[in-house]
Amino acid sequence: MNATAPKLPARPPSADTLILAAMRRAGETGASGAELAKQLGVSRAAVWARIEELRKLGYDISASPHQGYALRASPDALHGDDLLARVGDTRVVGRAIQVFKETDSTNDIVDKLAHDGVAEGVVVFAESQTKGRGRLGRRWLSPPGKGLWCSVLLRPNLHPMAATQLTVISAVAVARAIERQTGLTPGIKWPNDIMFGPRKCAGILIELSAEIDHIRHAVLGIGLDVNLTPAEFPAELRASATSLQAEAGHPIDRPALAAALLHELDVVYARLCEGDFHEVGDDWMRRCTTLGHRVTIRVGDRALTGTAEALDEEGALLVRTEHGHVERIMGGDVTLEK
Ligand code: BTN
Repeated sequence: MNATAPKLPARPPSADTLILAAMRRAGETGASGAELAKQLGVSRAAVWARIEELRKLGYDISASPHQGYALRASPDALHGDDLLARVGDTRVVGRAIQVFKETDSTNDIVDKLAHDGVAEGVVVFAESQTKGRGRLGRRWLSPPGKGLWCSVLLRPNLHPMAATQLTVISAVAVARAIERQTGLTPGIKWPNDIMFGPRKCAGILIELSAEIDHIRHAVLGIGLDVNLTPAEFPAELRASATSLQAEAGHPIDRPALAAALLHELDVVYARLCEGDFHEVGDDWMRRCTTLGHRVTIRVGDRALTGTAEALDEEGALLVRTEHGHVERIMGGDVTLEK
């Protein structure tokens, strides 16, 4: 964490966050209305009014005089209050969460928040994006309710040359969250693609605002294809893109996955800030499908072919060329050669 980063006072959790968190903790037993009222400092009627509002949002909540309020089912929709309740206390990532029904690009919203002086850790989700963008100026398909399209504001104490570390830790966090929530084991293609075999299910776009010697802020954008069916991808993407639903054979709980993602991002970012990139870097290497392969890397007009040998401490890829010397690659488009 950057010691000079602006800090805004953390807002206390909303009533809905506290009610949802209490019901999740209580499980089938249910959370007592009287205790909720006491905890929130409001009347039992006011708690009841909030429960009614949550029901309108699609939360299935049973109420009984003996058991209190029990959460039976949640909607397949992202709600900031619910995500905060699921994530609980985090060090940085997910201290504040905003959800838009539709926006142009969550990266743009977070960049604006950064320029307004908002503290790191804020996360913006959108149910859909009209101008979602990927690396190298590509368009990122972001249809409503089918994926996780989100951006996180970070203010790491890093030299701009070490920004690839952010990509590496983010890819590990995405892979860990998918694994934890679905039992699937994705691979990582350097630097930032989350893959199932030849098909990509998630990508990471990091946009920096930097001085010559330090990063002012980084916008970490993640696009994760969750519940798209193969037919929902445009024909030209079907051979190269996939979703978690297509891989698992059943729909995936998006809000639960979103919370797992924020938790994992918080863990890896804390490691990075503590100066312990290696633990996460080692996990990246275990998951990486690029290392040991012949690759061609295109950076602008330049193409380089060689064997991807390792990742260095700044997250750069070390490629041994056909002439036997090692090139250090910080970014580009990788193709695995046969
Ligand atoms: C890639 O090209 O692999 C990176 C894709 C990143 C897409 C995400 S979706 C949320 C955030 N907002 C954007 O406009 N892009 C990123």
